[in-house]
Amino acid sequence: MCGIVGYIGEKDCADVLISALTKLEYRGYDSAGIAVFENGKIKVEKSKGALSDLVNKMRDDESKPNGTCGIGHTRWATHGEPSDINSHPHGNKRITIVHNGIIENYKQIKEFLMSQGYAFESQTDTETVAKLLDYYYNGDPFETITKVIGEIQGSYALGILFRDFPDRIFAVRKDSPLIVGIGKGENFIASDVPAILKYTRDYYLLEHDEIAVLKKSGVKVYDIHHEEIKKELQRANWDVDAAEKGGYEHFMLKEINEQPGAVRTTISPRISDGLINFSECGLTNAMLNSFKQIHIVGCGTAMHAGIVGQYLIESLARVPVIVDIASEFRYRKPIVSENDLVIFISQSGETADTLAALRLAKKCGAKTLSIVNVKGSSIARESDMVIYTHAGPEISVASTKAYSVQLSVMYLLAFQLSLAKGKITEEGCRLLVAQLQQIPSYIEASIKLMEQCQFVSSKLVNADSLLYIGRGLDYALSMEGSLKLKELSYIHSEAYAAGELKHGTISLISDGMPVIAVATQSELFEKTISNVIEVKSRGAFVIAICKETDDIGPDVADHVIKLPELNDIFMPIVTAIPLQLIAYYTAVLKGCNVDKPRNLAKSVTVE
Ligand code: F6R
Repeated sequence: MCGIVGYIGEKDCADVLISALTKLEYRGYDSAGIAVFENGKIKVEKSKGALSDLVNKMRDDESKPNGTCGIGHTRWATHGEPSDINSHPHGNKRITIVHNGIIENYKQIKEFLMSQGYAFESQTDTETVAKLLDYYYNGDPFETITKVIGEIQGSYALGILFRDFPDRIFAVRKDSPLIVGIGKGENFIASDVPAILKYTRDYYLLEHDEIAVLKKSGVKVYDIHHEEIKKELQRANWDVDAAEKGGYEHFMLKEINEQPGAVRTTISPRISDGLINFSECGLTNAMLNSFKQIHIVGCGTAMHAGIVGQYLIESLARVPVIVDIASEFRYRKPIVSENDLVIFISQSGETADTLAALRLAKKCGAKTLSIVNVKGSSIARESDMVIYTHAGPEISVASTKAYSVQLSVMYLLAFQLSLAKGKITEEGCRLLVAQLQQIPSYIEASIKLMEQCQFVSSKLVNADSLLYIGRGLDYALSMEGSLKLKELSYIHSEAYAAGELKHGTISLISDGMPVIAVATQSELFEKTISNVIEVKSRGAFVIAICKETDDIGPDVADHVIKLPELNDIFMPIVTAIPLQLIAYYTAVLKGCNVDKPRNLAKSVTVE
C-alpha cells in the first residue's frame, strides 16, 4: 500500500525517483508525486492516476523539477479518494513529506491543528503529519521528528524534506517497511528493494522509530535519543533483470514462466544427502515432534497455499492443522497454546493482518515460523524462525511464483514433520524428496499448455460468472484459480467443494455457464466426475483439468486440459499453472490491466 522513495546524489533526481517509483507501482497506482529541491526551494509535482500520467504531465507542462535531492510517492488511496489534491507529497514550502501507512489518530491531530489555525487541503491522514511537523518545527529536524512520532499512532514510513536542509533527506518508520539504499556518492530510501536495484544492492533495514539522515556523502541512523546506531549492511541478491519484464508482455507472464527456477532455488538449499535440512532456521526434528497442533495463517493466495499445506500435513504427518485468514485469526480469540506451531505465510512479509496475527500468536506463547519471500521484512524479523522462499521479486500484483514456492515449502515441511512424527521412514522421505526435486520439470511441461489455456480463456471472456469445483486438494486449488480469475479479469467466480454443490449452489447453473472442474486426485476422481456430470446435464459449459491418463469424454466435459501424471500429492503445484494461465489470458482478452488490477495493491500494509 503506497510506495515511497527518496534520492540524494548527483543524478537528475526526478529521473531517479520516477525510475524507482516504476518498480513500486505494484504497491498502488491511484496517484503519484515527487518533491525535489530546486534552487533551494522544494518543488512539488503530483497527479492523480498512474505514474505515466505524472510523467506526461511534467513533459507537457515542462515542469519537471531540476535538482539532485528529493522524495517520491505512488499511492493506494486509504483516506480520501484518488485525486490530485490527495496525492503525495504533502506539506508546505518549508516541510514536505511522503508517507506509506495509516495514521490512526489523525482526526484528533487534525482538530488540534485546526484549533491552532492550520487549514487543510486534502482528506488524507498524511497531511496531518506534515502539518504537525510544521507545528513543532524549531529549526531542529531531529527534535521535530521525535516529537511528532511520539504523538502519531498507527503505521508509517516517512520521507521528509526540510527547506532549511536542502542537502539531506530524513526518514523514519514504524510498522511500514523502509530501506535505506547505500550507493557511491548517492543514497536512497525506498519501500522495497527493487526500487533501488538499478543503482545499488547495498542497504540498511530501518527498524521501528530509527531516524535516518541521508546526505550525498553518507547516511547516519539514530535512535530517538539521538544516539547513532551502527547498522549492518544488507546485500540484495536479486539481480536487476529480476525486476524487469525481460521481453514478456506482462510481469505476470514472466513470473509464471519463472516458476520452475523459483521452486528449484527454494527447495535445493534445504535438501542435503537426499533428506531435508532445516538447520538454517533452527527447526529441529525434536521440535517438530513436540508440536501437538499446527495453525497456518495468511491472506489471499498465501492462505490458499496454507490450505494445501493443511491437506499435506494432516494426511502425511497426521498432525491437526487449522488454517485461518489472518484478519479472522486475530479477532476470533483463537485457541493457541505453547505446544502449538503457528506458521505464517506471506510473500511480502509486510501484510498488516498477518503481522498482527503473528504478534498475537507470540503473545499466546506458541512457536512461530514464517514462510516469507522478502528478506528482512517485518514478518520475517518478528517470527521465531523463518524459511525464506526464493522467488525473487514478484512485481505483478497477482501472486503466481510466490504461490508455487510457498507450496514447495509446504511439501518440505509436511515431509519432515512426517519423518519427525515417525509416520514415514527415512527411505520414504528420500523418495518423496526425490519426487519433489523432479517437480520443476513438470511445471515446465505444464507451462507448455499455454495455447490450450488461451482457448479456454476465449470461452470465458464473455461470462458473467463461473464456478470452480474440486474435492480435497483440487478444492484447495479451485479456490486459488477462482481468486486469480476474479482479481484479474473482474469476472465473478466462486470455488465450491464439488460434493457441496447440491446443497444449494447447483441452482446457479444455467445454460452455458462455465464450470472449471479440477479432478486430479485419483481417489476422488470418480466422485468428482459424478458432480461434473450433474452440472453438465444442467447445461454447464465444462472445462475439466485432470491427469494425462484420465479419461473424460465429451459427454462429461466440453474441453479437457491434461496435466502430467504425478503422485496425487504433487498435483497442486502443476495444476496451479493452467489456472494461472487461464486467469491471465482471460484478463488479457478482456483488455484488463493484468499487472495492476483495479482497486488492488500488492503489499497490503493496512488492516
Ligand atoms: C492474490 C494475491 C493476494 C496476496 C495477499 C497476501 O493474487 O496476491 O491475495 O496473496 O494479499 O499477501 P502476502 O503474501 O504479501 O502476505
